Amino acid sequence: MADSVQRAVLTGIGGYLPETVVTNDEMSRRVDTSDQWIVERTGIRQRHFAAAHESASFMGASAARAALAMAGLPAESVGAIILATSTPDQAFPATAVHVQAALGAVNAFAFDLAAACSGFIYGLSVADAMIRAGQVQHVLVIGAEVYSRILDFSDRGTCVLFGDGAGAVLLSSRHVSVDGPGVLSTHLHADGRLADILYVDGAVGRPEASGFLRMNGREVFRHAVTLLAAAVSEALAANNLTAQDVDWLVPHQANRRIIDGVGRKLGLPPDRVVVTVDAHANTSAASIPLALAQAMADGRIKPGALVLLEALGGGLTWGSALLRI
Ligand code: UT7
Repeated sequence: MADSVQRAVLTGIGGYLPETVVTNDEMSRRVDTSDQWIVERTGIRQRHFAAAHESASFMGASAARAALAMAGLPAESVGAIILATSTPDQAFPATAVHVQAALGAVNAFAFDLAAACSGFIYGLSVADAMIRAGQVQHVLVIGAEVYSRILDFSDRGTCVLFGDGAGAVLLSSRHVSVDGPGVLSTHLHADGRLADILYVDGAVGRPEASGFLRMNGREVFRHAVTLLAAAVSEALAANNLTAQDVDWLVPHQANRRIIDGVGRKLGLPPDRVVVTVDAHANTSAASIPLALAQAMADGRIKPGALVLLEALGGGLTWGSALLRI
């Protein structure tokens, strides 16, 4: 094929959510908040919280199994596992190697990627580059998070916002036509000068190991819509596309008001935006693959659809990606 290109094509996807659902009313029995405040300010109605056995590796492996099953590929065919998380099982070894062992993906190299809520887009970008370089044939990109373990339940401004879960995609190297499926481009950014508006206040290697999530919500919010709108415009411009060409926006699910703000700036009608924040809350690196998995499973996102992804999180880190299914 004269005009064929090598692309990272999504061949499988899966998600995992912990069994335990915690509603806003249940949260309001734990902290001084209300269902009304949480819904009005964030759109969140419930979140899933992990049980003791539902670690990042457990949930990530479950999501990855579903992605492999959809692709119809054995675990041995996976060449690399990239696991984006801020809540790893351990400081080391990487949570990704526990997933590798659980899957029996004996031919894969495996590593974790730390980019907070932007972790999935960062992972997608790294996987796309590895596939384009011809380094690997099949890559699992996983977002897996147990934020319930780093929430300060005395801080009502943060503890109501997050939930646990995992999502995984399998990307496979394919020669396709120019208008065929695959990752079209990814666009990554970081600004470490804003590291102190969203962070965890402890880590292995530091004397104070409290390890709770801290956020200046108003500051994060202030940057979010502007930076995300710029990142999605960048992705469209890089591909000579406009918002009219986009079938679905699948944004990171942090806050309904941020999602709506980016959709409005793009001029995308709400019925072309996938929203799961009501049911999942903010699952950080897991939120985009979970939302994508849901919208593909229920038939909204079909083969051939042009999907725009965006995320922003601690770092600050942010980015966007265009993907044809
Ligand atoms: O993945 C990326 C990470 N994070 C984000 O994207 C989050 C970005 N930020 C946000 O989503 C919003 O800033 C929040 C949802 C966190 C907060 O919304 P806000 O409209 O910025 O509220 P605020 O922080 O300005 O607080 C307004 C009021 C305050 O009371 P006073 O001082 O006005 O009396 C807070 O104490 O709401 C109070 N408040 C609450 N009330 C009930 C804060 N948290 C709660 C709560 N329940 N859970």
